[in-house]
Amino acid sequence: MIAEIEALASAALSRIAAAANLDEMEAVRVEVLGRKGTLAEFGKLMGKLSASERVDAGKALNGAKTSLEAAFDIKKTAFESAALNERLQSEWLDLTIPPPGLTPGSLHPLTQIQNEIESLFFSMGFTILDGPEVETEFHNFDALNIPADHPARDMQDTFWLEGGHLLRTHTSPVQVRGMMRLGPPLRMIAPGRVFRNEEVDPSHEHTFYQLEGMMVDRDVSIANLLYFMKTLLSGIFKRDTTVRLRPGFFPFVEPGFELDIECMVCGGAGCPVCKQSGWVELLPCGLVHPNVLRAGGIDPAEFGGFAFGLGLTRLVMMRYLIDDIRWLQSGDLRFLKQF
Ligand code: DAH
Repeated sequence: MIAEIEALASAALSRIAAAANLDEMEAVRVEVLGRKGTLAEFGKLMGKLSASERVDAGKALNGAKTSLEAAFDIKKTAFESAALNERLQSEWLDLTIPPPGLTPGSLHPLTQIQNEIESLFFSMGFTILDGPEVETEFHNFDALNIPADHPARDMQDTFWLEGGHLLRTHTSPVQVRGMMRLGPPLRMIAPGRVFRNEEVDPSHEHTFYQLEGMMVDRDVSIANLLYFMKTLLSGIFKRDTTVRLRPGFFPFVEPGFELDIECMVCGGAGCPVCKQSGWVELLPCGLVHPNVLRAGGIDPAEFGGFAFGLGLTRLVMMRYLIDDIRWLQSGDLRFLKQF
């Protein structure tokens, strides 16, 4: 019987060694080591042996069991780690590969033009300021020399909020905040969103963008204003531009001007774009009114300044010949992808 057990064990060992996968090996284990397996059958026969034979056969049986179980465990571990390695190989991901088919976004044309103008003025020593979109009546109107009964308030249809607050109708209130915060001498620009209670059509929006500029110093003159405006325009249009000043009224400047540029389409000869005049209205500007300097805590006897209000939205429309202002805030990707 001992010989039979040893023969069975060595046959099973070589079958385990030859097994190609866990299933094959499991079949051998059930057949030999299982509760109804061959070794168990030998166990049942033990009762028929003499006491001394039983001791030896028992040892052989236990020895066979132990060595088979050990062989089985070792091979099982080997199979499992091979399976794990295979999975690690086949499921390996390179997380650094960029996903296919994604196109990078781009900056909104308004942001692009704003960035350009900011770096231009930054290089000339101007500070870039931000102001709140919800403003006080004081900053938006009173401090800009537009008292409550002034007809100029009617020029800007205002979204009124509670408690004397409003959505700012222009970026000019940032002039006041700039004067108060920084004091003279002062060079600042303030780009931002402004709001008017307007009927929306191809050339009117309730929300649009302006860029305010202000310089306060001793002996600031219209020559300074013109110099900075010409620098601004050649920066934007990438060429020398001819400009002219026409009188214009804004309560916060005196004198106030409308700055026109020579029409770039016809070079001043007259065409439909400039309505045959040869000139295109570009931005309002002027020398800061003494009342505004005073409201900003600056003594007009000592300091003077110029200010301008650039319509960023309008400028973008001119640059890219966009004929409907509503495109700019539409969020329409067909429009945005062109920039
Ligand atoms: N704040 C004015 C507006 O939105 C524009 C403006 C005019 C700004 C003249 C200025 C200026 O700084 O000097 O209608």
